[in-house]
Amino acid sequence: MFFKKRQPKNQIQLEIDMTRIPNHVAIIMDGNGRWAKARNLPRISGHQRGMEVVKTITKAASDLGVKVLTLYAFSTENWKRPEDEVSFLMKLPGKFFDTFVPELIANNVQVRVMGYVEQLPKDTQASVKAAIEQTAQNTGMILNFALNYGGRAEIVSGVQTIAAAVAAGQMHPSDINEEIISQSLMTSSLGEYADPDVLIRTSGEERLSNFLLWQMAYSEMVFLDEHWPEMDGEALKKALLIYQSRHRRFGGLAENMSDKK
Ligand code: IPE
Ligand code: IPE
Ligand code: MG
Repeated sequence: MFFKKRQPKNQIQLEIDMTRIPNHVAIIMDGNGRWAKARNLPRISGHQRGMEVVKTITKAASDLGVKVLTLYAFSTENWKRPEDEVSFLMKLPGKFFDTFVPELIANNVQVRVMGYVEQLPKDTQASVKAAIEQTAQNTGMILNFALNYGGRAEIVSGVQTIAAAVAAGQMHPSDINEEIISQSLMTSSLGEYADPDVLIRTSGEERLSNFLLWQMAYSEMVFLDEHWPEMDGEALKKALLIYQSRHRRFGGLAENMSDKK
């Protein structure tokens, strides 16, 4: 028979507090190319391995009770890459969903996609659409892929929608407020979870690279040295422990906000 030792007070938190899991976790999955290069492999091997890691992290986040997991898979700037790399990246959603939809359904995960989907190759669009439809009845974690997404482009599109409503006389300029702008963005369907609680970026880079610019006004930022293909459930937990060590204040005072998520 084993007895659990009681943890002394003031000890650094080593275990995740399951009552303070962030609702919306956003991840910039970076470092696939460098991971491959360090192993003398072509960059696409890093993307292939990265796709397997998406499965692991999706399962781990869903098991932890995350409500929305947003993964930056392809930016509006990634078209600048060599054609063969772009074309491999465009095939990944198909490969991913072909093998993983049954498991997503078993885990009650709903797939969503955010970005300029209509600019993707037709077969990529078809794979994405099928996965969204096949998981639409699920009620668990939302797995939200940012695919051909860019934060500035998203804001431009939102502003155009609002300007059109003003020009049509449906809205007065003084009606425009933060709520209206949030609703004009691609995260609006996430409702109360539209803004990430935490951004995780792998591979040691510490920048946003045009990800969720409006939505991350008060997100906690966690930068990990691991390349994306090296991530696993434990590394995700490490990132969430760092998040849980932070005191979110939202401009207020820490003592009033300690329970605020
Ligand atoms: C992230 O890994 C995947 C995408 C951007 C599609 P990278 O391909 O950016 O890998 P590095 O940053 O070059 O190592
Ligand atoms: C951001 O990574 C985009 C994705 C992870 C999809 P990048 O590798 O494209 O970003 P930069 O170029 O290093 O800023
Ligand atoms: Mg990169």
